[in-house]
Amino acid sequence: MDRTLVIVKPDAVERGLIGTIIARLEAKQLRLVASELRTIDAPTAALHYAEHEGKPFYANLVAFITSGPSLLCVVEGPQDTWKVVRLLMGSTNPKEAAPGTIRGDLAIEMSQNLIHGSDSLASAQREIAIFFPNLS
Ligand code: RTP
Ligand code: MG
Repeated sequence: MDRTLVIVKPDAVERGLIGTIIARLEAKQLRLVASELRTIDAPTAALHYAEHEGKPFYANLVAFITSGPSLLCVVEGPQDTWKVVRLLMGSTNPKEAAPGTIRGDLAIEMSQNLIHGSDSLASAQREIAIFFPNLS
């Protein structure tokens, strides 16, 4: 089986969309193998979003992801799970995300786009190790 990291971001938790978002992943036959509701601290956010350090949106991104509880999840599927999750999420900018996707249906602002999914197999392994060290 093949695993990826999903974060149901603070905007989704605040809006009461945990159930809706997890239901979409489960409807696709992806399975939760670990999950924790936690407010991500600043050092962990910096590690997670290290690739974006120095970009103009970085400070806002870290402020947002640490602003309240997120649901951290390890999600499993038969193969290419990170890719399947990214398709269900839709484009980064919700204004351009296709209807039928989580962001396309439920979000409108780039800075509050509800869900994170790892963007490669290597990212999935790196990010699972950050948030669920006992699993990797
Ligand atoms: P994420 O990592 O959160 O799952 O999102 P993503 O892969 O779809 O997008 P990524 O490029 O990794 O960007 C991370 C988050 O930063 C914000 N962002 N703002 N130009 C901008 O203003 C800009 N670009 C990215 C978004 O909130 C995005 O989810
Ligand atoms: Mg990303």
